[in-house]
Amino acid sequence: MTARVLVLYYSRHGATQQLADAIADGIASVGGEALMRTVTSAGEPASQRDLTVTLADLEQCDALIMGSPTRFGHMASALQQFWESSSSAWLRGVLVDKPGAVFTSSSSMHGGQESTLLSMMVPLLHHGMLITGIPYTVPAIQTTAAGGTPYGASHVEHAAGNQLSQHERQAAQALGARVAQLATQLTARS
Ligand SMILES: Cc1cc2nc3c(=O)[nH]c(=O)nc-3n(C[C@H](O)[C@H](O)[C@H](O)COP(=O)(O)O)c2cc1C
Repeated sequence: MTARVLVLYYSRHGATQQLADAIADGIASVGGEALMRTVTSAGEPASQRDLTVTLADLEQCDALIMGSPTRFGHMASALQQFWESSSSAWLRGVLVDKPGAVFTSSSSMHGGQESTLLSMMVPLLHHGMLITGIPYTVPAIQTTAAGGTPYGASHVEHAAGNQLSQHERQAAQALGARVAQLATQLTARS
């Protein structure tokens, strides 16, 4: 079976989208399918590339990985707004027992990545998802001098520059592969 992993992200300037793409590479590396979706925000242009997420996407996916720029230590409001529109999906439990994970990009090293990652897990927990991070057995998590955390994939602009560092990319790919593999294993058992 091909695991369909919803990669739901918001990106204003493209850094979070780079992480989303590395995660999609990881999903594909283990035979999964990445469903790339974004959200629209009032006053900010929508993505020209990926479709806007719908509640049907939550139902149809086997797993979900959500990414946001760090904004004052929290996810972007456009993503929070999407979750606040998801009550009907929550009532039907469409994400229950599906693997979930998170990722973020920030400008500074100590600018709130971990609070952003942890707080992004909260709506996923309310939806009954099985949260996973990136284990320290992934070498990039041990050696990174920029982003890449046990809480989720990340990029730090001031440390890595405009492009993902090699370790950030490896950590993001590992997260995508891990979630896709978990989804495959869980679906096979159910
Ligand atoms: C409103 C706003 C708040 C931000 N807050 C933070 C912050 O708390 N910490 C930080 O390091 N960077 C912060 N940033 C910078 C972004 O997190 C950073 O540039 C990120 O990589 C942008 O991602 P994107 O290219 O996907 O839009 C903020 C940016 C904006 C516009």
